[in-house]
Amino acid sequence: MPTIAIISQKGGAGKTTLALHLAAAAQDAGRIALIFDTDPQATASQWAAWRQDAPPEVIDSPPPRLCAKVEQARGQGAEFIVIDTPPHADSAARAAVEIADLVLIPCRPSAFDLSAIRTTAKLVQLLRKPAFVVFTAGSPNAPRIYQEAGDLVAGLGTPACPIQIPDRAAFRHASAEGRTVMEFEPGGKAADDIRSLYTWTCRQVDASTKSCKAKVSA
Ligand SMILES: Nc1ncnc2c1ncn2[C@@H]1O[C@H](COP(=O)(O)OP(=O)(O)O)[C@@H](O)[C@H]1O
Ligand SMILES: [Mg+2]
Repeated sequence: MPTIAIISQKGGAGKTTLALHLAAAAQDAGRIALIFDTDPQATASQWAAWRQDAPPEVIDSPPPRLCAKVEQARGQGAEFIVIDTPPHADSAARAAVEIADLVLIPCRPSAFDLSAIRTTAKLVQLLRKPAFVVFTAGSPNAPRIYQEAGDLVAGLGTPACPIQIPDRAAFRHASAEGRTVMEFEPGGKAADDIRSLYTWTCRQVDASTKSCKAKVSA
């Protein structure tokens, strides 16, 4: 049962957006998906309240209790867990990475954001977890920018995910309404990007846990 940690030292990197949408994609694929919100700002929990707690479920979870809560959820049949974390919080990020099968690091493909990624990359390397940088909110049509940014993060020891989640207005509209881009515009590019990222994520986790295959091909 995959557990994915979404971490990045930078605020506004797209952590919560990625966490909610990955879990929602899993839910759309027929899994019981949960989001653990370890951010005191509780943005993911706010989104859940806006959608009157329609799935995927968001569970408010301060970092010291995260491990116990995730174990409990696994015991109760959760099939896909995503952990959203706050910025500038080494202990919360660390707690999430420790229990994750895979770590995703959202990052805007800009120089300032890329330079801030070193700390996050060091943490995942220290804890020896598979991790990828997911470029978020960049231009939709800029292959060269993604190529260069990918080379840079690979140089820091953390490869780039081949799927990007570029800037699309659908994310802003959907979030503001407590929805996902799949609900807001099912045939849109943002929804396609998220579904591709979910499929890719399952393949990555499957490579280490062998637990995702049946659901992806279903
Ligand atoms: N791919 C994207 N396209 C457009 N807007 C995005 C995208 N990803 C995130 N955003 C917007 O950027 C802002 C910050 O994203 P958020 O997920 O809250 O970041 P974090 O959790 O890292 O602070 C939000 O307003 C969100 O709607
Ligand atoms: Mg957030």
